[in-house]
Amino acid sequence: MVDQRHGYLSASRVAAQIADRREVIRAALLHDVGKRHSGLNIIGRSLVTGLSKLGLGRLIGRKGGRADLYIRHGELAAEELSELGAEPLVVVFARSHHAARPLEIDASTWEILVASDH
Ligand SMILES: [Fe+2]
Ligand SMILES: [Fe+2]
Repeated sequence: MVDQRHGYLSASRVAAQIADRREVIRAALLHDVGKRHSGLNIIGRSLVTGLSKLGLGRLIGRKGGRADLYIRHGELAAEELSELGAEPLVVVFARSHHAARPLEIDASTWEILVASDH
C-alpha cells in the first residue's frame, strides 16, 4: 500500500507539470514496482537504506536475500517493465532512479522525475 501510494503521488506530481507526456507519468508511477519483491517492512527498508548509504552493504545479507532484493529494486523493476513492453523511458528511469542521470533521459525530464520521487 505504501508503494502504491508513493507511485501515485509521484505520478500526480509529474502530471501536474506535464500532463501531455504520458510516458513520463508512467515512469513516475512505476519506478518502484520492484520493491515488492523484498517483502521488507518499513523498519527493514529504513535499516537497509541506512546501512547502504553508510557504505556498510556487507552487513546487509546474502545475495538474493530480502535486503539484496530491496537494494536492487530498480534493476528488478526495469527487467519486469521491459519484459512487459514498457517504453524505454519507463524502463530506464526504474533502473536508474537512485543513480546519476543516464544519457537516455534529458536533463529537464530527469529533474521533474527525480523531484517527483520525494
Ligand atoms: Fe526507489
Ligand atoms: Fe521512489
